[in-house]
Amino acid sequence: MKKIIINGGKRLSGKIKIDGSKNAALALIPASLLTKDVVTLENVPDISDIHEMLDILNILNVSYEFIDNKLTIDSSRIINTPLIKKNIEKIRASYYFMGALLSLFQNVQIIAPGGCKIGNRPINYHLNGFRKMGINVNEMDNVFNMSYVILNNTTIKLPFPSVGATINLVLAAVKSDNIIIIDNISCEPEVNQVIDFLKSCGARIKKIGHNTLIIIGTAKLKGTTFKVMNDRIEAGTYCILAALLGDNLLIEGINKDHLNSLFTILDKVNADYFIKDNIAYFNKSNLNNPFEIETSPFPLFPTDLQQPICVLGSFLPGQSIIYENIYEDRIAHIKELNKMGADIKIFQNKIIINGRTPLFSNKLKAKDLRGGAALIIAALSAKGTSLIEGVNYIERGYPNIIQKLSNVGADIKMEDS
Ligand code: UD1
Repeated sequence: MKKIIINGGKRLSGKIKIDGSKNAALALIPASLLTKDVVTLENVPDISDIHEMLDILNILNVSYEFIDNKLTIDSSRIINTPLIKKNIEKIRASYYFMGALLSLFQNVQIIAPGGCKIGNRPINYHLNGFRKMGINVNEMDNVFNMSYVILNNTTIKLPFPSVGATINLVLAAVKSDNIIIIDNISCEPEVNQVIDFLKSCGARIKKIGHNTLIIIGTAKLKGTTFKVMNDRIEAGTYCILAALLGDNLLIEGINKDHLNSLFTILDKVNADYFIKDNIAYFNKSNLNNPFEIETSPFPLFPTDLQQPICVLGSFLPGQSIIYENIYEDRIAHIKELNKMGADIKIFQNKIIINGRTPLFSNKLKAKDLRGGAALIIAALSAKGTSLIEGVNYIERGYPNIIQKLSNVGADIKMEDS
């Protein structure tokens, strides 16, 4: 079992470089199957979730090469085969094979998606959207069978701007003979990446206003080379860490427009930083104000940074409050932070952080990806030696995290026993 061992309390200096976006790349891999030509994706992060997706390509007889963050995909010999193996359940993004395979073969058999246990994560918006397009959807024992003869011209209004449902419905619609309109779409940058990628393959997708898409089906898409954007959540995680421990610490490869909601909070708490081009420069901060946050769809504060920013709250005077509006059970980190000396309480979706409480090292267990990142930040900020289990969750989304943190002076190592 892998463990991360951290001797905390050290200031961090130097440079951390951000990798490509996990959630964008995870969607772009199934999207790449929509052309029989070769697709090259650049800046793909080397993380376990990507390798899980590549394993699914093996099942589908799709060839690929993944070297130095460049992923070349050749799906000219793709076969439609049931995706029902247990390992497909491991990741959330496996649901994108629903839209992609429906588009290619008019039918798919696939097991329900998995992902971090952060709440009830239904896919009813995906399924209802498919049904509105004219796709038959049946579920038995957690396996979906979906098929159609022709798709309808239709307008689908999502009840909530879901990232996954928006992308899945676009994938299902983009090669049809129809005009499909999707309203109340997610405006997350990762969704825009998929749209831009498909357009570069020749898809006809038009954004009307802020949150409506018109998709005019295009039977044949062509290959392309596409650069995955940098990961705004990885960037945000390191910026939170830098606000706590940075002393001439540079976070390189950020897009400020993707993280304005975080930088507004860092300004409020008096973090000492500035941004030039794609680098955030952090000095030693004198943190002195609590914050109030509501997690919401982009451009508001991302739920994926709720867990890391809880740690920051413990180092601020007064009471910081977070309303977790997206996932009701994204709270596994709180018990662990309280074990370290934090004073965090939960009332329904309201997280109340009473600061300032020094944190002390402890034996900790990550139970999900971003909660794991929060524990790493906490252990780096706490005096003494902490041990973190549940490393497999962290490896799902933070490439090379041990090396990146060691390079800036953290006393951190991984042990595999
Ligand atoms: C994606 C991201 C995840 C991120 C989340 C929100 C991937 C692989 N995962 O997850 O890291 O935390 O966006 O930014 O990209 N909902 C329903 N029914 C549905 C779909 C969603 O009720 O059919 C609800 C969810 O339970 C949640 C909200 O809508 O409360 C948002 O979910 P969604 O945007 O779909 O998140 P995911 O695509 O699962």
